[in-house]
Amino acid sequence: MQITGIIGAMDVEVAILRSMMKNARTETVSGIDFIIGSLEGRRVVLARSGVGKVFAALCAQTMILKFGVTEIVNSGVAGTLTPELHIGDVAISTACVQHDMDTSAGDPVGLISGINMIELPADTKIADELDRVCAAANVNHRLGVIASGDQFVHTTERRVWIVSTFNASAVEMEAAAIAQVCFVNKIPFAAIRVISDEASGDVKIDYMTFVKAAAATSSDIALRWLRARA
Ligand code: ADE
Repeated sequence: MQITGIIGAMDVEVAILRSMMKNARTETVSGIDFIIGSLEGRRVVLARSGVGKVFAALCAQTMILKFGVTEIVNSGVAGTLTPELHIGDVAISTACVQHDMDTSAGDPVGLISGINMIELPADTKIADELDRVCAAANVNHRLGVIASGDQFVHTTERRVWIVSTFNASAVEMEAAAIAQVCFVNKIPFAAIRVISDEASGDVKIDYMTFVKAAAATSSDIALRWLRARA
């Protein structure tokens, strides 16, 4: 039986989905509330992980080991790294990278030791389904690399560096941690991230202005995806 894990980092990224869950009960593990129930007729475990890679990783690992999820989707907001994605548009992961991972005395920047990978690939089936859902909803979207790190990216210098190093199209703070946990546990994963800011310039003003609407769009795509599943 399929159980879908949905992770958002912040309240604003899970509030709509939480309000729509049916037959829900909550279990708290390591300070994270896991809401177990159904959404759009499908079995779902929903959690607000907290911000950053460590919280995201412990949330994903708990979903897998304790709640038996068979796939995970990360839903939330991101800064854009490409002129093809503007505020309100959707980035879907084909792979995730950790832009702050650096053992570069000899290793390429971003290399995750042990598994020796830079790009953590998304599940192609889920990414394709999300692609089709966005197309059907007439939402401007791109599939591409999503870069994660324990930094709110707000300078042109860092933004340009991430783009030139990883060819990423969006930046946020959790997806690649969840991707790594899913990779080592062989659990299908993809991220939906709706653009809230330009990751440079007036980033804080844009973020504060658009985070709620961007999070709502991401939740809407996640709901449409659940609904459209065979
Ligand atoms: N999430 C939304 N915008 C972001 C940014 N500019 N940097 C990191 N995470 C983000």
